[in-house]
Amino acid sequence: MKDFKSVRPIIDEKRPGLYIETYGCQMNVNDSEVILSILEGQGYALCEDMDRADIIVINTCAIRDNAEQRIWGRLDVFRQLKKKHPVTVCIVGCMAERLKDKLLEHPAVDIVAGPDSYRELPALIRNLSEAGNGKQINVILSSEETYADISPVRMDKNGVSAYISIMRGCNNVCSYCVVPYTRGVERSRDYRSILREAEELAANGYKEINLLGQNVDSYLWKGDGQTINFAALLKMAAELLPEIRFRFSTSHPKDISNEVLDTMAAYDNICKHIHLPVQSGSSRMLELMRRKYDREWYLERIRKIREIMPECAITTDIIAGFCTETEEDHRDTLSLMEEVGFDGAFMFQYSERPGTLAARHYQDDVPEETKTRRLNEIIQLQNRISLERNRKEIGKRMSVLIEGVSKRSESELFGRASSNKVCVFPANGYKTGEYAEVEVTGCTSATLIAKTL
Ligand code: SAH
Ligand code: SF4
Ligand code: F3S
Repeated sequence: MKDFKSVRPIIDEKRPGLYIETYGCQMNVNDSEVILSILEGQGYALCEDMDRADIIVINTCAIRDNAEQRIWGRLDVFRQLKKKHPVTVCIVGCMAERLKDKLLEHPAVDIVAGPDSYRELPALIRNLSEAGNGKQINVILSSEETYADISPVRMDKNGVSAYISIMRGCNNVCSYCVVPYTRGVERSRDYRSILREAEELAANGYKEINLLGQNVDSYLWKGDGQTINFAALLKMAAELLPEIRFRFSTSHPKDISNEVLDTMAAYDNICKHIHLPVQSGSSRMLELMRRKYDREWYLERIRKIREIMPECAITTDIIAGFCTETEEDHRDTLSLMEEVGFDGAFMFQYSERPGTLAARHYQDDVPEETKTRRLNEIIQLQNRISLERNRKEIGKRMSVLIEGVSKRSESELFGRASSNKVCVFPANGYKTGEYAEVEVTGCTSATLIAKTL
């Protein structure tokens, strides 16, 4: 395997310009960094202005219909742009994988590439420029591709926090979810390449690494007589780079093991935050969703987390208005939220995705207004709970990794505590990338306000 190279983008006006837009989850952000690395190797340089671009890559999400609607809107913008100057438009990612050649019908689109075909992008671009070859497509999914040997070129602004994808795809079949169809089967990346990439990030000044996968708890790498699970990977990473702070997402309630919790507790440089999507508080809904756990199992996992790490923050994802959801099921979700006291949540209204189990076997029968009303109740409740949870932080001292200058004021900085909570405080000589020791003095439902010590 080759050495990991420079991790920042090349900005060079003399090179052909590459403009990248990314939608969807953190994994897509990291994939765009892989694409940038591949295309830099072809001579392209990142440009931030699409009017200057020779090639536009739009990395898409298919998780909900509104995610796709945004992309269609962007394609219309690129269509207008193409009237002004010639530019190649590549649509990549999950929506590309889902819709395949249907996307080629859009006049703006030249190339369609799925999440496992990014190594083919240079060939697709070449074929396109060869006369008469027409539009290009590669949406073949792989059971092996992990881009392990490609060093992502980091596009974050601050150089403090970076992502490493430790696995790709998903082997679960949650009935509402399109991801297994757009990302293919689950595969774990060689742990040695993960650790090498982490070392390289540390050498380049990064302070925090976020290990990514749809279900990190099922990370499992086998080879050379070794079997490495997620707890073992976390332990090796934490020991190899004690000065780096590690985070990970997403955890799955059915798979998060006590071994992972014990490993988190044992290392100060593993952040005390778990993102544990519950989706619903009703066991009947969880069964229909094929989540493979029920309400009691989820609450037991929460109890275990709190027993092993009383200070650990817990966040979640919730879907409102899944097929056949009754008022009682909805109240079960609200009561579970109260019972757990989540520090934060991403909350969505159910959106039927063609081809999924739910689309094929259940009726999307909760009226739109009911979905919206339930979602609003969930959001309102979570805002109240988040505020209560944040108020409990007042008076506590914590170490905050500084990510940049606060949007509110030039003289204030912001960063994240181990809990992943955003914290704002007076700069007092601190700089981005440093740790500030602070005491929390106030809060909103979204932010902690602090003073430096
Ligand atoms: N792998 C993660 C989640 C990935 S998708 C997990 O298993 O938890 C992120 C979130 O989007 C999901 O947790 C779910 O809450 C939401 N989501 C997925 N499909 C959806 C759909 N069809 N409609 C609404 N929300 C959806
Ligand atoms: Fe989708 Fe379920 Fe896989 Fe998460 S675990 S990506 S929700 S199928
Ligand atoms: Fe969206 Fe694909 Fe991520 S559907 S949420 S970009 S895995």
